Amino acid sequence: MTEVRPDFLPAMGTPGLTAYYDRFGRIAGMGEHYWRLVAQAAVPPGGTVLDVGTGTGEVALRVARAVPSAAVIGVDPDAELVALARRKAADAGLGATFEVGYAQHLPAADGSVDRVLSSLMFHHLPVDAKPAMLAEVLRVLAPGGSLHLLDVDGDRPEWSGWLKALRAGFGLAQRLDARRRGLAGDDGSAHGHDSTHGHGHGQGHGHGQGPGDGHGLAHDSAQGVTDLLTQAGFARVVVVGSAHSRMGGLTWFRAERP
Ligand SMILES: C[S@@+](CC[C@H](N)C(=O)[O-])C[C@H]1O[C@@H](n2cnc3c(N)ncnc32)[C@H](O)[C@@H]1O
Repeated sequence: MTEVRPDFLPAMGTPGLTAYYDRFGRIAGMGEHYWRLVAQAAVPPGGTVLDVGTGTGEVALRVARAVPSAAVIGVDPDAELVALARRKAADAGLGATFEVGYAQHLPAADGSVDRVLSSLMFHHLPVDAKPAMLAEVLRVLAPGGSLHLLDVDGDRPEWSGWLKALRAGFGLAQRLDARRRGLAGDDGSAHGHDSTHGHGHGQGHGHGQGPGDGHGLAHDSAQGVTDLLTQAGFARVVVVGSAHSRMGGLTWFRAERP
């Protein structure tokens, strides 16, 4: 039986690999990069925080650990990951909560959030969903509240040598999973979102295809993200920093609701 395709790009590009996400994050050395995002956000005691595209909750759980008095809500459309994040919070005794939801429809009242964080999610959004997400973030942020974004830099896709082999393995596993789920074409290629990430994490982020190439793949350069934030109406848009990670270039952004 052919399964229904998710209407979002899953963490590992295809649903069958979701269970490996945390292991992949550890191998890729993401821990220190998540902490850097949390430190940058400077969440005030008692503040309300949304982690958009929370995945397995790695960023949300770090916020909850760093600022126990904060109300931390992780949002992700992937119910399997939301369930996993809830289990991790319970196991660690942390108060973060997790909800199934989309960046384009955030589950928060107007002006009710002090900080929005989002890590490695922006490039998962189709090109037309990015302005929709940013408008939602502006809606839920309180005046003076801020967005803290970490994403892969579309201009610096180089993966470290030994991760390239792992990446190739993921690409193969993604294609096999897509085929098993009945998402593959006769040529063995996967279609839709699975294809996007098959060319993404599986095959080197597909850089060069560019946003809006019809595959749903939408990596932006640091300048591209800055432009989108500015066009959306954020104030004080800043590239806070960048680093070379095992997955290639990463960039941290900060932007304020006027
Ligand atoms: C690469 S994972 C990043 C997860 C986590 N933030 C981290 O850094 O470990 C990308 C996440 O974005 C989520 N995602 C995809 N489309 C989304 C959307 N429209 N709204 C919110 N999250 C989305 C996926 O389900 C996935 O969990």
